[in-house]
This record gives sequence, structure tokens and C-alpha cells, in this order.
Amino acid sequence: MTKVAIWCRHEKDSVIGIGPSIPWHVSSDFRRFKRITGGQNIVAGEKTYESFPNRTLPDRKIYVLTFNPDYEVSDKANHFVVTDIRTFKDFDGDLYIAGGASIYKAFMSGGSKLMPDIVVDCVYHGPLNPELKGDKIDIQPCAEALQKHYRQMTPGHELDNITTTVFAKKGDFVEQSVLKRIVKAIEEE
Ligand SMILES: NC(=O)c1ccc[n+]([C@@H]2O[C@H](COP(=O)([O-])OP(=O)(O)OC[C@H]3O[C@@H](n4cnc5c(N)ncnc54)[C@H](OP(=O)(O)O)[C@@H]3O)[C@@H](O)[C@H]2O)c1
Repeated sequence: MTKVAIWCRHEKDSVIGIGPSIPWHVSSDFRRFKRITGGQNIVAGEKTYESFPNRTLPDRKIYVLTFNPDYEVSDKANHFVVTDIRTFKDFDGDLYIAGGASIYKAFMSGGSKLMPDIVVDCVYHGPLNPELKGDKIDIQPCAEALQKHYRQMTPGHELDNITTTVFAKKGDFVEQSVLKRIVKAIEEE
């Protein structure tokens, strides 16, 4: 029953998106995300879900958060609509929180039953893609909550201008098998 948030934010202002897009392209970041979330349950906001290629991610169950109960997913056997985030308070199994900003913020500020037990904090140090149009979307409140409520579990792992560090909620028991699986997935490349 471990909740894990995984994000990649810019070192300045914790920007994670411009309009619908992630404002950098780092292949190893996608591969890390795939290794960590492969075979798992993930939750994504409707906008992030719409941005997945063909609105899917193979080999994962996807819970799509939307206020629209009639929202149609692309794969009814493996994707599920959730209109009330409180459903996840008693989620049966591990859950990987995959964004976007509104979903990270809702879980990180959602009290002890929604706050992730583990955060995989990837911080990108390069430039933002200057060609993207749209508003910058940031998760600064999540970065602040991370500093306040979490303890660092691993040294930063450097790859392709991204530092990846694993954090766990202060004072809480951390499922060691989940932590080990995540660390292995990070160190694989
Ligand atoms: N760098 C990264 O790690 C990363 C990861 C993921 C996404 N992103 C970026 O993040 C940006 C998208 O973030 P976003 O905040 O705009 O969109 P989002 O969180 O992906 O989706 C927002 C939508 O989720 C639904 N929603 C939000 N809160 C809800 C709640 N409490 N209950 C039920 N439904 C809820 C609403 O859908 P309805 O309008 O349908 O009701 C809302 O419009 C994009 O730029 C994307 O590329 C970056």
C-alpha cells in the first residue's frame, strides 16, 4: 500500500510543463519513468493522460482523475475513471502518482492518507525548450512540502543533466521492497 510520486521538475521554480508539454526532451528520463512505473498502478490527471501517446502506457493500470464521470478512456479493461481523489485514501495496492501539476499538488497537500510515502524527485538542470507556447506550470508548493515533510533516502543520482533523489515521508514506515525496486530502477542506467 505504498504511494509513490514521480516527477521531473526544473531546478528553477519547479516548472514541469509548458502548455500540455514537458519542456525538455531527455530520453533517459522517459526510460527511468517506464522502469519505475512498469507493471504498476498509476494515477494521472486528465490532461496528462491525454498527453500519453495514444492515451495509453502499456503494461500499467491507469486511474484517470477527472471531474467528468462520462469521460471515455482509451482502454476500458486497464484504464479507470476516478472522479473523487479520496478514493485513493484506502487504495488496495501500490500507486504511482504520475502528474500533472494539479494531481501532484492534490496528493501532496491531501493529508496523511493521500500524501505519497515516497517521492522520486528528478531535477532537470538544462534549458527549457524555447519553442513551446503556453503557460508555465510549476509544482513549487510540492517542492516546499518535500523539504518540510520528507527525508532524503538516497544520494542524488546524476544522468543527462538530471539529478534523481528518493525521499520518504518523515516519521513513516517505508516499505523496503518498494524502495529497493525504485533504487534499482534508477541505478540501472
Ligand atoms: N515533468 C513531469 O514530471 C510531468 C509529469 C506529468 C505531467 N507534466 C506536465 O504537467 C502539465 C499538466 O498538468 P495540469 O495540472 O495542467 O493537468 P493534469 O493534472 O494532468 O490534469 C488536470 C485535470 O485533472 C482533473 N483533476 C484535477 N484534480 C482533480 C481532482 N481533485 N479530482 C478529479 N479530477 C481532477 C481535471 O480534469 P477534468 O477537467 O477532465 O475534470 C483537470 O482538468 C503538462 O504540461 C504536462 O506535460 C509534467
